[in-house]
Amino acid sequence: MEKQQGVDLSLRKFIKDLGCIAGGTALLATTPWLKSCTPEKLAEIKKEKARIGIIGTGSRGQYHIVNLLQIPHAKIVALCDNYDVNLEAAHAMVPDARTYTDYHELLDCPDIDGVIIATPLGAHAQITLDSLAAGKHTFCEKAMARTLDECKAVYDAYTQSDRALYFCMQRMYDEKYVRGMQMITSGQFGEVVGMRCHWFRNADWRRPVPSPELERKINWRLYKEYSGGLMTELASHQLEVCTLVVHKMPVEVCGYGDIVYWKDGREVYDSCNCVFHFADGRKINYETLISNKFNGMEDQILCKNATIDLAKGVYYLEEDNMIFGVRQLLDQVRTGVFAAVPTAGPSWRPELKSEYVPHAILDKRYDVNQGQSMIGVVNDGSDVIVSAFCQSCITGEKAENVVEEAYCATTLCLLANQAMDEHRIVTFPDEYKIPYMNF
Ligand SMILES: NC(=O)c1ccc[n+]([C@@H]2O[C@H](COP(=O)([O-])OP(=O)(O)OC[C@H]3O[C@@H](n4cnc5c(N)ncnc54)[C@H](O)[C@@H]3O)[C@@H](O)[C@H]2O)c1
Repeated sequence: MEKQQGVDLSLRKFIKDLGCIAGGTALLATTPWLKSCTPEKLAEIKKEKARIGIIGTGSRGQYHIVNLLQIPHAKIVALCDNYDVNLEAAHAMVPDARTYTDYHELLDCPDIDGVIIATPLGAHAQITLDSLAAGKHTFCEKAMARTLDECKAVYDAYTQSDRALYFCMQRMYDEKYVRGMQMITSGQFGEVVGMRCHWFRNADWRRPVPSPELERKINWRLYKEYSGGLMTELASHQLEVCTLVVHKMPVEVCGYGDIVYWKDGREVYDSCNCVFHFADGRKINYETLISNKFNGMEDQILCKNATIDLAKGVYYLEEDNMIFGVRQLLDQVRTGVFAAVPTAGPSWRPELKSEYVPHAILDKRYDVNQGQSMIGVVNDGSDVIVSAFCQSCITGEKAENVVEEAYCATTLCLLANQAMDEHRIVTFPDEYKIPYMNF
């Protein structure tokens, strides 16, 4: 309960307040998936509990279990995994739950309202389709599916189904992202002129394998049969934020993908640089590398008057930089670095990023440490989106835009992989466009 108040109810209260402030209706109109996330809506479900079955009880499945155990309107009744080690670990966390090794048997259970799927990407589409067909409300991990055809099949099944479907696009439920996106949409930072996201790590992305025949099962992320590599695993979250902020889809993508450092038999790139190009000329610059982590992870929205780093929960005003630049210049004149004000010159570098002052997107629970926000380190919206899903299992209410956003982000990741594989510019194919998309 404590966690609910700290996280879930905190966001719900924030969303409620948003609806109450002047212009709040318009703001919520830009984040319609949050309309059901108010304390009142939660109160409407009273003491009911969503009966949840989990398919895929590895790392992420167990993370969801930790959150579900703290959500008062959720009860885990069944667990399924075809790897006994992970099934047993999850069962130890929820001893009362029934266990299965074949997910079809779990889907046949009439006492399950909602299914959470946390299997490798290659299995997402089939299990999601089977779950919807079995009449279950369904929550699947991101990304949506391994191929464009699978994405389309899942999207079509969803539009024909009366069941709720969620994909774990947790940034849509992360308070600092929500508030930051609201601020950008309100126009207070000026026009969005570009986007720049990156995710750097310095680790091989491997997991220890107890015996060689389990290599592909355990290290599925490294093999194309199951994984779209860094694009579907990391970029999917970040691209989703970009298209959400501008309510537009890029028309073209190009890029380079390589295995630069981890030449260990893996099939997916360990280094990707992509440019997504919008019809109006704006671009998303995307970069990921897992053999150097200096630059960390940032989701930067570049506006005419500010840069918003949604991942850190901070924004930087262009005008602050001008003040700093002028102050620096005057100091340099005073100390004799310059005898007069130069009009140009390599020794004056006001553009350095360190000269910008970070401002907090959220003015509470905020801790800026040299520009590094601590918000979201523990809570990144994953618990809130699972809580919202459990609420949907009880009310039957679908979440607006979540499937559509997952579709947009995943198709962009898959097209970027295609562009990198084929060394060419890829145009968004007409057959995979959905009515939700604006180009
Ligand atoms: N939203 C996020 O921030 C986030 C973070 C981490 C992982 N993920 C996603 O979660 C999913 C799982 O990742 P993970 O790190 O937990 O992987 P994992 O390998 O730790 O766990 C996957 C589990 O699924 C099981 N599985 C595979 N096929 C199955 C089947 N047909 N039936 C039943 N069980 C099956 C495996 O045995 C394994 O236990 C991936 O899609 C990943 O992208 C999302």
